[in-house]
Amino acid sequence: VYLLREKGYFRGLNNMIKLDYRYYDEMIIGQENGLNLQEEFDKYKDTIAHIIADLNKRKDKPGQWLQWMNLGYSEETVWYVKEYAAMVQGRFDNILVLGIGGSALGGIAVTEALLKPYWNLLTPEQRNDLPRIFFLDNIDPDTIAGLLKVLDLKKTLVNVITKSGSTAETMSQFMIVKNILEQELGDEYRYNIVSTTDKKTGILRQISEQEGYKTFVVPDDVGGRFSVFSAVGLLPFALVGIDIDEIMNGIKDMDLALKNTDIKENIAAQNALIHYLMDTKKGKNLSVMMPYSSRLKYVSDWYVQLWAESLGKNKDKDGNDVHIGPTPIKALGATDQHSQIQLYNEGPNDKVINFIRVAEFDNTLEIPNIFEYTGIGYLGGKTINQLINAEADSTRVALSDYGRPTVTITLDRVDGYNVAQLLYMLEVQTAIAGELYNINTFNQPGVEQAKNYTYALMGRVGYEESAQALKEKFCLLYTSPSPRDRSVS
Ligand code: PA5
Repeated sequence: VYLLREKGYFRGLNNMIKLDYRYYDEMIIGQENGLNLQEEFDKYKDTIAHIIADLNKRKDKPGQWLQWMNLGYSEETVWYVKEYAAMVQGRFDNILVLGIGGSALGGIAVTEALLKPYWNLLTPEQRNDLPRIFFLDNIDPDTIAGLLKVLDLKKTLVNVITKSGSTAETMSQFMIVKNILEQELGDEYRYNIVSTTDKKTGILRQISEQEGYKTFVVPDDVGGRFSVFSAVGLLPFALVGIDIDEIMNGIKDMDLALKNTDIKENIAAQNALIHYLMDTKKGKNLSVMMPYSSRLKYVSDWYVQLWAESLGKNKDKDGNDVHIGPTPIKALGATDQHSQIQLYNEGPNDKVINFIRVAEFDNTLEIPNIFEYTGIGYLGGKTINQLINAEADSTRVALSDYGRPTVTITLDRVDGYNVAQLLYMLEVQTAIAGELYNINTFNQPGVEQAKNYTYALMGRVGYEESAQALKEKFCLLYTSPSPRDRSVS
């Protein structure tokens, strides 16, 4: 550890995010709903040790989809990203990211967490002349049209991100934006586009090469929902001035900590096992992610995709029908205390609730002592900081009074180092949970069928059978195959 620290690889346990799982224990929430954690940890000691060792052994092997475990060490990507960000600095007022699912959610989560709040409303001086950033991760025509009305595309760098290179939502947005850019800038339009896609395959790769765009790579064996620390996330982060070295340090330190095969020392393994046992032994298969920090609000959206797409599977690795997967739910503290907590306290006891708590906020906001009314006078002289954490703690205790299990992840502060640790920890937790469920964490066959029907409805060549099936099933109108669809993949 000393040598690693000397090399700048390890900043020590004190700075690491912490997991408090006491409120899962049967001693606190009772035997019916709680677990005898020490007993379970002992029982699963060897299984967990084997899973962690095996993940680390397999991570470099092609086809295992575990390359995301190496992203913290990809110095080359960091170098290229920084070089490009420095080259375009000052040239654009806006960054527009086009992507969906894993190609957008990590970027949204991290930029919301790390940029100054209301970044896009700040003046250029307040943003240190760094660009504003917008993510288009849906295909609502009104939103797209609305955004295009407020953005001057000539002064916008468009980062189109798709690993497959053909995702309909992303590519349709791209076609609209490219068309406008070309009309406004002529041949020069290509300098307003940077694509992030597969190294070799996919239509976006072909277009990028033909048109001469600057491109970044989504590495092999990194699935979309595990790609936030590849160029998918790092490029947008660097373009708006986020310190990506701090992020890499957070991942590396967490990776080192999570290589520990002892469940008593490994927070990702602990939370994975707790969730797995709560589901399989106690029938609690809903997982709520509830940060008490608005800046971490979109970490919940990212977690929902990670947990849902990774763990919701109908077959296990041996081919048995299992139809398993805990359902993730997003919530925000303290806001959702006034919307969801009634259900969580008194409704079905089928959830595990993950609190995220921030020890130290960037600002301390005092509540002025201006009223003496009994109902609100007590607030005067306290801080909003005290209030939000008091609400997190009291909600946790109230939930435990009702026999509801909660776990609390604490970040020292919301910065790149801590946020990277949090996301990486949740990725490893997901991979370990997948092994416990004995499923393939890294595929998503369940999203294909609806995609095929969309292609059929939109007239993509090769999807005539799906179109016929749709017609027979629902008598839906569909478009004939489009002559312009030169399908290559
Ligand atoms: O996690 C995943 O693999 C998906 O959510 C993808 O990220 C999403 O479907 C977008 O795919 P692509 O990056 O190929 O456009």
